[in-house]
Amino acid sequence: MSLNKTYEFNDIIRDIIDKKEFQQLKDELHHGISRYHHCIRVAKGTYYITKKFNLNYENATKAALLHDFYTNEQMKDFNSKEAFRLHPDLALENAKNLLGLDKLQENIIASHMFPVCKEKPKYIEAWVTSIVDKGVAIYEMYRYKASLVMGIWILFIFNIISIQK
Ligand SMILES: [Fe+2]
Ligand SMILES: [Fe+2]
Repeated sequence: MSLNKTYEFNDIIRDIIDKKEFQQLKDELHHGISRYHHCIRVAKGTYYITKKFNLNYENATKAALLHDFYTNEQMKDFNSKEAFRLHPDLALENAKNLLGLDKLQENIIASHMFPVCKEKPKYIEAWVTSIVDKGVAIYEMYRYKASLVMGIWILFIFNIISIQK
């Protein structure tokens, strides 16, 4: 990413990453690294693609940053299958408590686990984040945790072939 884009990306995410609630994600394990770093990686990919295609990149980047904004403590009453499906709703609730979201941002967070979550992506930006998230997850699993990779590949491919306007 160019220096200008790096500055702009950092400007967009600064307000959120500086909040103590978001800083908590540094202690949460996710794909073998911290959920904080996973969220930044997904936000960066979303920023890069949505800016390139002249989409609503500022709002999309902020929502992508918050797509997994939850703690393991909040998920402790759910088994791993339920947590997989339900965490977008929890992330959405947490994100709404952190800052005001528009409809696009709500959809990005709620639908990022498509096709296993309740909500479907309704905007191109939401399709971008849901695909970037799976691409990043595959990368992180290969790099930090070799298990679960096949399942995410299947979701990734299904996501690509399900793209609609
Ligand atoms: Fe997620
Ligand atoms: Fe994620």
